[in-house]
Amino acid sequence: MAAAGGRFRMAAVAWVVLFLGAVWAVDRSNFKTCDQSSFCKRQRNTKAGSSPYRALLDSLQLSQDSMKIQLVNEANKVPLLLELYGLKGNMTRIRINELNPLKPRYEVPDVLIGDPPTTRLSVMGRDDNSVELSLGEGTHKLILTAKPFRMDLLEGRELVLSVNSRGLLVFEHLRLKKDSFSDKVSSTVVSMWDRIKNLFSRAPSKEPATEEEGAAEASDASLPTEQESTESEKTEEASKGADEAEEEPGSWEETFKTHTDSKPNGPTSVGLDFSLPGVENVYGIPEHADNLRLRTTEGGDPYRLYNLDVFQYELYNPMALYGSVPVLLAHNTQRTMGIFWLNAAETWVDITSNTAGKTLFGKMLDYMQGGGETPQTDVRWMSESGIVDVFLLLGPSPKDIFRQYASLTGTQALPPLFSLGYHQSRWNYNDEEDVNAVDNGFDEHDIPYDVIWLDIEHADGKRYFTWDPNKFPHPREMLQRLAAKRRQMVSIVDPHIKVDSGYRVHNEIRSRNFYVKTKDGNDYEGWCWPGSAGYPDFTNPEMRAWWSSMFAYDQYEGSMENLYTWNDMNEPSVFNGPEVTMHKDAVHQGGWEHRDIHNLYGFYVQMATALGQVQRSGGVERPFVLTRAFFAGSQRYGAVWTGDNAAEWDHLKISIPMCLSLGLVGISFCGADVGGFFKNPEPELLVRWYQVGAYQPFFRAHAHVDTTRREPWLFGEDNEALIRDAIRQRYALLPFWYTAFYHSYRTGEPVMRPLWVEYPQDVTTFSIDDQYLLGDALLVHPVTAQGARGVQVYLPGKGEVWYDVHTHQKLHAPQTLYLTVTMSSIPVYQRGGSIVARKERVRRSSDCMQNDPYTLYVALGPQGTAKGDLYVDDGHTYNFETKGQYLHRRFSFSGNTLTASSADPKGSYETSAWIERVVILGAGKPAAVFLKQAGVAETRLDFTHEAETSVLTLRKPAVNIGADWSISLR
Ligand code: GLC
Repeated sequence: MAAAGGRFRMAAVAWVVLFLGAVWAVDRSNFKTCDQSSFCKRQRNTKAGSSPYRALLDSLQLSQDSMKIQLVNEANKVPLLLELYGLKGNMTRIRINELNPLKPRYEVPDVLIGDPPTTRLSVMGRDDNSVELSLGEGTHKLILTAKPFRMDLLEGRELVLSVNSRGLLVFEHLRLKKDSFSDKVSSTVVSMWDRIKNLFSRAPSKEPATEEEGAAEASDASLPTEQESTESEKTEEASKGADEAEEEPGSWEETFKTHTDSKPNGPTSVGLDFSLPGVENVYGIPEHADNLRLRTTEGGDPYRLYNLDVFQYELYNPMALYGSVPVLLAHNTQRTMGIFWLNAAETWVDITSNTAGKTLFGKMLDYMQGGGETPQTDVRWMSESGIVDVFLLLGPSPKDIFRQYASLTGTQALPPLFSLGYHQSRWNYNDEEDVNAVDNGFDEHDIPYDVIWLDIEHADGKRYFTWDPNKFPHPREMLQRLAAKRRQMVSIVDPHIKVDSGYRVHNEIRSRNFYVKTKDGNDYEGWCWPGSAGYPDFTNPEMRAWWSSMFAYDQYEGSMENLYTWNDMNEPSVFNGPEVTMHKDAVHQGGWEHRDIHNLYGFYVQMATALGQVQRSGGVERPFVLTRAFFAGSQRYGAVWTGDNAAEWDHLKISIPMCLSLGLVGISFCGADVGGFFKNPEPELLVRWYQVGAYQPFFRAHAHVDTTRREPWLFGEDNEALIRDAIRQRYALLPFWYTAFYHSYRTGEPVMRPLWVEYPQDVTTFSIDDQYLLGDALLVHPVTAQGARGVQVYLPGKGEVWYDVHTHQKLHAPQTLYLTVTMSSIPVYQRGGSIVARKERVRRSSDCMQNDPYTLYVALGPQGTAKGDLYVDDGHTYNFETKGQYLHRRFSFSGNTLTASSADPKGSYETSAWIERVVILGAGKPAAVFLKQAGVAETRLDFTHEAETSVLTLRKPAVNIGADWSISLR
């Protein structure tokens, strides 16, 4: 099977050939450093300690739920408006905009799931230079100091967070270019704005009836609150501030490599600093190929958030990658906090710490001498445009943070069960025969799998929503064959659309005027897989509605119920664009520049695709969409993966912190290409990668078109057996995975989580990122080193016990254990005190397991107790939400009795699945075991007991999974 035929290479010529034979490393010169990004440089040049801002205490207005106050920059006199809200659930929102901007500044729509409910604010005290407010449920207070402007947030008497304490608020106000000052200045402003808006006036339904309506529409219902000033006032202010920054290079235009970015709005960046006293550990702000615990950025570049298609990304650095979630978590033994910086423009985040350079000994010395500074981390956010809109999540526990963030941006969508199974992908499965052969291969080799994927070559000349007529002439028959085996398919649908007058999709988008525009008002064209391509404007709700409609079965010809979608290249990737993405001065609906919305593009692509899938089923079926680019809130629309990694051990290793970081900011459904995308993995690496992937949320093997084939059976019997075993372990745990996702859907808690989330006071856990927890019950420490003979596993929890899930050996915590490993080892431990459900019969796919019986693993804690739960529904529809068709069962063991009851009486669901076995770890041998069900006489259960491992196995309770019962050991 020569997978990589010459045709594919030719098709991918713009990208692949360019780099063939290149040394493995990102070409850094393709991507900006902070110094090469003029706004980042300008922001960073502002040094701490000299804030020009003063709050005008006289302007303070307090309403039921908000405080408004003006800030003035004393250097240029430009006034800002600060709004402060106490939000329900222990959060505070701070918004800063210009009081009278020349025109609206972008405010991110569609990311928040609603208007966050507010709480009452009240003024507690006031003097000449400060105001004290009580916030939230009275637990917090905020002291606003007028000059220099800063805000300090206290819980009781403890200072927990300060805003602008280093004086790094930088707000570049909208202004006019100096040479355009004239009598006609105000008409210039208006005509500039008009020109941009008119780019979209060709779409008849979009034409606003009046000037005012147009402006209102442009700002997407989020106009700044203060719009009273007249044009002449605006002009006056603009002229005041016109001098400074104007001289600075890059303010009105900047060039990077061959690309010049025009900036009709001039410099528009915003930046602000936050100080976190007592904090030494910060996390989040994905996506970066870096450790879980973020490092300080002094002396290097800040972490960058700018969705980019980075070829051959390097590890352990702060460069931007495909997705961005501007959420940072701060943690110490006392509390966890979060900062959510809601801005979709290019953003850089600086992290500094006063203890960064100190050795542990130095810190101890400080502590013993009592003279050391309180450790403190400072975080500085800098964005190219938009406004300051920031949510302070005040915890205090990690789980409070997840709840708080979920209340703003929503929770992980509950995935269809099949998508938690194993996915087989490569670029490309060549034709229908190939698909059949691979599909049959899994049956021949007795390896379960759920989904086979088709990459870009399946479409007719990279025209998405079509099929290559020679290679895939009968897509429906192919899909039906898979459906008969209860399996699914995913096809790729990228957001770049081939410019080709014979292509219906292109013609429709063009005629509806749905493409993003250049600054001159033409349809924006860039180079991507199909050659010249247009980029639909996914920020336009009408465009999204149309895109969604394309997934209807009669629109996407050859598609069927078991065909799902992969959205790739949605940063968006533009091969010939600046930094391989879209020009920042391209124009979107409403006149917004691409600069304003860049990090949202991919979010919208996945949103529109997921909605399309829901709609094609009349709202009944849950969607499955994988995306490469993402933003805050993307968790609502499906899964993400970490893009084009490589078949290297370090890439295997980094998949863990990369997915952990995503989970912390709401995106639980994360995975990395199993095997590594680029290069050919040696069998040892491939096997280890399957073992790692089997215990990560999204489990998909994928490979570059130029790699050799790597279906699991191509590496000899031994390796095949190891891979089979890893995949089967995944399938046995599907009930547990599904339940963990249900929790994530309900609460926002990550499925795959760092140890410190469950052990927030154990400092040893704070920088661990080679092991993690699934839910709160399983600890996984996969083997990620070549030739490994053993791993050091840290078992947390004072006085707790853990059980090796393979040997059932009981281990006491806390301890660091050296575990000897072989090629078959996947070190996994079940927490004492937990109950985990498995399905242990081997099947072809997850769907075939639907009615299979369960085995409950009851791992007794130090007190001889345990509890756990299980979520069950039909696995694919929304009936759990709309009709209450689900079971949420609770199991608890205490006083030698295991009981099953409902955890949620609102749900009910009929299933024939039953319990075939209960395995109790850490149990003594009972004399007899009895099963009791309401209205039925008590029955005796058979059991076996292994004295050496203290494992008690109860055979065939044979109770339905939905039934209430109890089993007592006597
Ligand atoms: C991008 C994707 C990769 C895919 C390829 C072709 O590189 O990240 O997964 O195989 O495009 O579509």
